[in-house]
Amino acid sequence: MEFLNKKVITPDSGDWAVEARGLVKVFGDNRAVDGVDLNVRAGSIYGVLGPNGAGKTTTIRMLATLLRADAGSAKIFGHDVIKEAQIVRQLIGVTGQYASVDESLSATENLVIFSRLLGLGRRESKRKAAELLEEFGLTEAAKRPLKNFSGGMRRRLDLAASLIAQPPLIFLDEPTTGLDPRTRNQMWDTIRRLVKNGSTVLLTTQYLQEADELADRIAVIDHGRVVAEGTVDELKASVGSSSLHLTIQNPGEIETARLTVERLLNVQSKISREDGKITAPMADADKVTDLLIALRETDIQLAELSVQKPTLDEVFLTITGNDIEKENYEMSHESIKVGEVRV
Ligand SMILES: Nc1ncnc2c1ncn2[C@@H]1O[C@H](COP(=O)(O)OP(=O)(O)OP(=O)(O)O)[C@@H](O)[C@H]1O
Ligand SMILES: [Mg+2]
Repeated sequence: MEFLNKKVITPDSGDWAVEARGLVKVFGDNRAVDGVDLNVRAGSIYGVLGPNGAGKTTTIRMLATLLRADAGSAKIFGHDVIKEAQIVRQLIGVTGQYASVDESLSATENLVIFSRLLGLGRRESKRKAAELLEEFGLTEAAKRPLKNFSGGMRRRLDLAASLIAQPPLIFLDEPTTGLDPRTRNQMWDTIRRLVKNGSTVLLTTQYLQEADELADRIAVIDHGRVVAEGTVDELKASVGSSSLHLTIQNPGEIETARLTVERLLNVQSKISREDGKITAPMADADKVTDLLIALRETDIQLAELSVQKPTLDEVFLTITGNDIEKENYEMSHESIKVGEVRV
């Protein structure tokens, strides 16, 4: 992607794009961010994963010089976000900046205006606008006024606009929330390409799958604190790569069923006595057959069995021992069930 070749700081694997220590932000009596440390290596994709209200956006706003921390400090490529805010602003791009576009102008016109504002010449601005629209699959829609754009198209244009300045560090706050699967995949491809071309990306997401697809490392945040940090593999290992959900017909047999599950899978399980449900991490899906045979041998009748990939719920349940507050979190019916399972 040629437009990224200029001005990009060549990441040295020894460089830190982000170093944050003890960031705190208090709104009234709500400690929205409560001592967050983050280290993001230059040239990587870093995912900040957490439910609604966890403090993701507030953390990004502090790192992006848009909000002053109440305590703690942060550096972007070695520059302090408060003392060197001007330098930091030249090194970063934040999606969401594009909120004040002119609805009656076309996508091309909007991008050209942005480029001109950043000091590019007329010809260069047009070239850049065309290049970005191509890159984001918006060429066909380029001449349409923005008011006719769908949510997904706006999101892509938003990212395109934030890239005109070719920032070495890009903050993406929930880049794919609300996008259809195809557009989400395109966004993922774009994000991967940005990093290939030398940028560093810090993105927030509520989806474990997204972090899984994209991020080299992940911080899980809850109630303003980092509750887990590591590579995707490390995080997954802590929850098991998949989970087994088993409902037995007679809840009175749950202890026997549980012992069978734990013996065969060699793990600890969680049970819900009233409705006869057992949940357990499952590293190897092939064990399902063994489990079914063993359960039949003990004469336990099954009502339902499924093997699911870990959900954000399960990550939280495993890491924090707490359910995600249900009212705060858009959950699928399936994951609500998981959230209700208690020991
Ligand atoms: N400007 C503000 N004034 C008061 N409270 C705020 C403000 N901004 C955020 N908060 C509160 O701080 C907490 C963290 O909010 P934040 O937006 O950082 O969460 P988030 O993790 O980005 O959530 P979401 O997934 O919903 O975007 C929430 O309780 C929120 O209500
Ligand atoms: Mg947010």
